[in-house]
Amino acid sequence: MTVARGRATGKVIVAGEHFVVYGAPAIAVPLPAATLEVEIREAAGGPAPQGHVAECARIARERWGGPDPAAVSIVVRSGIPVAAGLGSSAALSVALARAWAGMVGRAPDDAELREVSLACERVAHGAPSGIDTEVAVTGRAVRFVRGESPRPQAVAPGIGLIVIDTGTPASTRTMVEAVARRRTEDPARFERLLAETSAVVAAVGDALAAGDVTRLGTALDAAQPLLAAVGVSTPGLERAVAAVRAAGAAGAKLTGKGGGGTVIATCRERDAPLLAERLRDEGWTVVAAGGIAPAA
Ligand code: MEV
Repeated sequence: MTVARGRATGKVIVAGEHFVVYGAPAIAVPLPAATLEVEIREAAGGPAPQGHVAECARIARERWGGPDPAAVSIVVRSGIPVAAGLGSSAALSVALARAWAGMVGRAPDDAELREVSLACERVAHGAPSGIDTEVAVTGRAVRFVRGESPRPQAVAPGIGLIVIDTGTPASTRTMVEAVARRRTEDPARFERLLAETSAVVAAVGDALAAGDVTRLGTALDAAQPLLAAVGVSTPGLERAVAAVRAAGAAGAKLTGKGGGGTVIATCRERDAPLLAERLRDEGWTVVAAGGIAPAA
């Protein structure tokens, strides 16, 4: 019996989420603490894949051929909190595409994986910018502008990242549609917010490359009200942002779709364990606390 496996990593959008759908730049980094593995067994006789997993299998089969998805067993082992804004859906589509291609003896390049993952993401949430897929495929820090070739983002050593899950899930499709409505209601205001976000993303890029935690924190703090202004923050997210700042972070914001989900904060890498301990003592769920992987 053929058994094939594929893996992919979750991601954290450091800045630019939502506005990236409308052309602003965004920066994302992989989250090695949160990975996902898909295992496919042919002719396993188990329950047929359901829902989004079945849909992704159908898309992979369309691309690379292979057995009827109803005739295989697909097991997903995920260390990425679901619907939390950490890229679990893109990681699932990439890991499944890798496993499926492996099962049928193909070795797809990144471009093929992107196409298959994006087709799955379109089913899941309508109009994905592609940033989640990019990190899941390459596992690298990226500066992303929709419709342009993604550029690697330089990251200096020593930058700490804390990720807190508020435990409230949210649907990407719902949040993206909510932002679209805000934009339609007041296009001029949205354009101003988009321009401010683009400036924040530039500051984030410079700070990551320079290893300047103070500047990075200031930029994260500046991003949070811009996201709140398009309706994707919640009282729970605001409480988490306040808690992590009070615990000693240099700055914090929600990450990903919002509406619940996760908050990121930065500090010096060596201070991350202490901050995480303080937050856990207060009852917060710390998903990751460590350093952002350095990148050239
Ligand atoms: C979701 O992880 C990020 C959003 O910006 C949507 C997208 O870029 O496709 C909210």
